[in-house]
Amino acid sequence: MNAFRDRRVVLGVSGGIAAYKAVEVCRRLVDAGAFVSTILTEDAHRFIGPVTFSALSSEPVHTSLWDDASPIPHTRLGQNADVIVVAPATARIIAAYATGSSYDLLTATLIATRAPVVICPAMHTEMWEHPAVQHNIAVLRSRGVIVVDPQEGRLAGGDVGAGRLADPDTIVGAVEGVLSGRGRDMEGMNITVTAGGTREPIDAVRVIANRSSGKQGYAIAEEAHKRGASVTLISTVDRPTLPGISLVEVETAAQMLQAVETHAPASHVVVMTAAVADFRPVHTADGKIKKQNGIPEIALEATPDILAALGTAKPEHQVLVGFAAETNDVVENARGKLKRKNLDLIVANDVSAPGVGFGHSTNAVTIISADGSETFVPLADKHSIATAVLDSVVAVRSARRSQ
Ligand code: PMT
Repeated sequence: MNAFRDRRVVLGVSGGIAAYKAVEVCRRLVDAGAFVSTILTEDAHRFIGPVTFSALSSEPVHTSLWDDASPIPHTRLGQNADVIVVAPATARIIAAYATGSSYDLLTATLIATRAPVVICPAMHTEMWEHPAVQHNIAVLRSRGVIVVDPQEGRLAGGDVGAGRLADPDTIVGAVEGVLSGRGRDMEGMNITVTAGGTREPIDAVRVIANRSSGKQGYAIAEEAHKRGASVTLISTVDRPTLPGISLVEVETAAQMLQAVETHAPASHVVVMTAAVADFRPVHTADGKIKKQNGIPEIALEATPDILAALGTAKPEHQVLVGFAAETNDVVENARGKLKRKNLDLIVANDVSAPGVGFGHSTNAVTIISADGSETFVPLADKHSIATAVLDSVVAVRSARRSQ
């Protein structure tokens, strides 16, 4: 379901160098189907012109309490909004909102709304780390305001540090979370996700591989990132992903095991989406095996079962999720794996069904929980499947907390 369709988003743009990035946020919100009203503060005008936003938003840009056709633009915008997002949010806007000060259209709208608010701070590191700013942020968080933390990176004037506006994908993802009712329900969680198929070398040029494209694993990593989790993605494939996701590149099952062992202990959630080869050559030949020497006999041995190792060492706080690629007795086989590997959830896909599993952009799964419950998710794009998997993870965590 498209969370943006026909929803009203007020985009507040305040005066910082990152204001230019709000153009991309505006465009993506409109493309996703939202009705976007943009408010530019007076300081924002110094960085970006209103014409750009008028061209991209769903209605002409709003700039003042007094110039609008409506005599009370702040109440109209505030009352009609499904969500307000301020990107970038300067230290001044944050302070005004935290103290209830209303001195222009954006601050008045923030106070005149009951809609959820997403604040995306951007400023120099010294300002972001100032106790007054951090206090105001804590006040806003305590009132339920969603804060999309700034990232580390290059700042105005060539400085490098924390304070850079979150990337547009993250901001739009946070808005999507609000509109879908999920918010940033994975904030504070570390999640490790594996993706792709391992490649086990036969010689210098040949490998034993499988058809995993990494799409399902990447979708899980990206949806978790949008929901506020801190994500480590251990991948065998070269695919672009969202900035802010920490990518660890591996090739073989042994390398994946090592990476997983490094990251899993501190993870609240581990999702093994990768198709790990079950067998690998006992020896990898030096150089390329020459075909003139006849057909080689390649002795195979079992790879380490990474998921089983995770299940054995599972910390009490962790939710461990496996996948099961099956072609028959799908649910029954998956249940066996869930038990044997000491998992909390297993996601079973019938990879012989059309559009399901390896390589496709779609999937259909049954999510089976250690408590015996089963959720069937019919054929859908892999991001929707990822959302359903993460909903189950969140449900397991809340059930544990209420025990
Ligand atoms: O990458 P895509 O093209 O998007 O395709 C997605 C997918 C089909 C790869 C994915 O949906 C999926 O089913 N992943 C699991 C594939 C698999 O290896 O299934 P399995 O039933 O053989 O393994 C069961 C579980 O044990 C899996 O979580 C696997 O990661 C894990 N395993 C398996 C073998 C091994 N040596 N170590 C493991 O950790």
